[in-house]
Amino acid sequence: MAAGQKWLLWLITLWPLLLSSGALPAHWLPGEYENSSSDALRFLSDYNSTAEEVFSFAVFASWNFDTNLTDYNSRLQVEAFLEFDDFSEAWGLKAKTVFSDELIDSLPDRKDRVMIRGIKILGSANLKKNEREEVGSTFFFFFKVT
Ligand SMILES: *[C@@H]1O[C@H](CO)[C@@H](O)[C@H](O)[C@H]1NC(C)=O
Ligand SMILES: *[C@@H]1O[C@H](CO)[C@@H](O)[C@H](O)[C@H]1NC(C)=O
Ligand SMILES: *[C@@H]1O[C@H](CO)[C@@H](O)[C@H](O)[C@H]1NC(C)=O
Repeated sequence: MAAGQKWLLWLITLWPLLLSSGALPAHWLPGEYENSSSDALRFLSDYNSTAEEVFSFAVFASWNFDTNLTDYNSRLQVEAFLEFDDFSEAWGLKAKTVFSDELIDSLPDRKDRVMIRGIKILGSANLKKNEREEVGSTFFFFFKVT
């Protein structure tokens, strides 16, 4: 399926859900994990696939607004980015409460250590906006190169 069609499909299936509930859809929330390296890797893999959806969703809303500047599309774009914030916070909080620094240090792959620390930082609600943007773009880059 072409990328555009995939986005359209998400748009059709997810917008009503998001707009009606005002909360993250359940399948975008983190599951249950233990403070173990196997669960840390499972967490990263779950985060990875979920983030891909949330990112695409926000990128789509942003692109949609850029090409069609209506108030409605502006609202959708803002909502999409708020969802993205909620997503970051939910997963960041989960990483912070479950995985200890010792455990993260013990992960063999440097990429995994960097990523899980990044998720913790992204989830800090009190992160200043420019810091958040910085970490956000690092992550964008990270997702592109992986
Ligand atoms: C994230 O997903 C991409 C493709 O979906 C994959 O290539 C990459 O290895 C994954 N990274 C992690 C840390 O799971
Ligand atoms: C622009 O967005 C509005 C919704 O605000 C929609 O009704 C309209 O069809 C869109 N126009 C185009 C050209 O996509
Ligand atoms: C988590 O696991 C690590 C590595 O096994 C251990 O050093 C640490 O004490 C554990 N922390 C908690 C809170 O269970």
